[in-house]
Amino acid sequence: MNKKTTTLLIAAIAVLAILYWVFALPSVGNPEIATDAASIERGAYMYQAGGCGACHQDEGAEGPSGGMLLESPFGGTFTVPNITSDVETGIGGWTGRDFMLALKHGRKSNGGFYWPAFPYRTYKDMTDQDALDLAAYVVTIPAISNEVPGHDLPGWQFSWMMAGWSIMADFLEGTPPAVADDPQLQRGAYLARALGHCGECHTPRNVFGIMKRGEEFAGVDMEAPEIDAAGLSSWSEEDFLALLQLGMTPSFDFVGGHMAKVIEHTNQLTEEDQLAYTAFFKRDLGEGATQNSAE
Ligand code: HEC
Ligand code: HEC
Repeated sequence: MNKKTTTLLIAAIAVLAILYWVFALPSVGNPEIATDAASIERGAYMYQAGGCGACHQDEGAEGPSGGMLLESPFGGTFTVPNITSDVETGIGGWTGRDFMLALKHGRKSNGGFYWPAFPYRTYKDMTDQDALDLAAYVVTIPAISNEVPGHDLPGWQFSWMMAGWSIMADFLEGTPPAVADDPQLQRGAYLARALGHCGECHTPRNVFGIMKRGEEFAGVDMEAPEIDAAGLSSWSEEDFLALLQLGMTPSFDFVGGHMAKVIEHTNQLTEEDQLAYTAFFKRDLGEGATQNSAE
């Protein structure tokens, strides 16, 4: 082999290695989906905590049979899929692997990519156990036959582009402020950051639509108000609890639109979890950070 061929060969191998790194499915094994009542019950709770129905269950529908439209910030609309156990039109027959790949990696088991309109950048921080409990519950949701049309997106958008987007997000997303090592605060952080996907609407994004987690909950102009320490400075803990339970703000307004759907889920949580949410949002950020770094 002459020098030129060798260089080309090495370059080709490097390109293939990069492509493999970008497109390969993460290894998640194939964990079994539990069928015992306790797992299903925990999963049903996770389903509320994750607010899955807010997108998947249409007004008046009997279950999460999809069909709702979500506008894309980059043009076009997504149609939310049917996640009932219907084999033809839903996700009947899904395995533990399918769930882990979708919820925690935004990947399809055939190698494809989901669009981040499905908030997997949030759900990726869910524990494996919680994701599997969720699967245990979701597979028990009675089948509803509802054929959902495909997404209606501009021609330049391809889901494989999400390969690069996800890697970029890993690097650019940043880390949210540290939370003191207190069980209630940690639980609140987990609920808000990994399940309740509060940041998907309330956290600003960069030009690529990647959440800026360092500016967690700082609000998005014209879309969702600021709910960080500054935004909630005039709210008492009771005010925040009233929002989670009733959707009522301190000025006795009721939140509307998408936020009203969020409340339909937060009001189903145990009071213990609602208090954890409250403790987390109303925590003293400065103090939390010092306590954390002191350890
Ligand atoms: C903000 C809206 C939203 C929320 C909340 C949401 N999803 Fe989805 N979900 C979507 C969209 C949109 C898709 C389709 C993405 C795509 O096609 O690329 C999707 C896809 C899925 C899929 C894949 C379906 C298929 O046919 O391949 C599953 C499973 C799923 N979601 C389960 C859940 C679960 C479980 C939760 C709660 C933890 C949840 N979703 C919360 C919007 C949402
Ligand atoms: C789908 C988008 C979306 C998600 C997810 C979401 N919110 Fe909201 N939120 C909004 C919008 C929009 C408003 C403004 C509603 C209104 O004014 O009627 C709002 C309002 C609020 C307010 C009132 C702020 C004020 O100053 O009046 C609080 C507090 C709040 N959200 C907390 C949360 C928490 C906590 C979560 C997670 C459990 C969450 N939100 C998830 C969209 C969202």
